[in-house]
Amino acid sequence: MALITFTSPMHKDKTVYAVAGSHTQTILDLAKEHHIPIDFGCQEGNCGTCLVKVSSVDGKRRPMGGPLNVREVAALTELGHITKAEIEQMYVDDIPPTQWRLACQMIVRDEDILVEYPSK
Ligand code: FES
Repeated sequence: MALITFTSPMHKDKTVYAVAGSHTQTILDLAKEHHIPIDFGCQEGNCGTCLVKVSSVDGKRRPMGGPLNVREVAALTELGHITKAEIEQMYVDDIPPTQWRLACQMIVRDEDILVEYPSK
């Protein structure tokens, strides 16, 4: 079971358990379930409203997370949070190349992470 800590300058930090391994639960699903006020719009990876910053709790490595899907790559590119070189490297490393993620697209894995919101 993973510990997901949501942190925001506007709200009290909240740490919740995530049932990892289902390969369906997103950061946004988890936030909604626990009444954490992450902004969202389309919930399909198109609008970028749910942009968050994700890091490992120990800060020593990039979080694994789920891989960026095509919609997330497009949205993060449009928002200027990922470069072409980082996208190419992602396919070599097989891990997300950036801490910027869309909460509606990032699937929770079995790792403790820190989710910062709002991201702007
Ligand atoms: Fe639109 Fe996540 S809510 S990209």
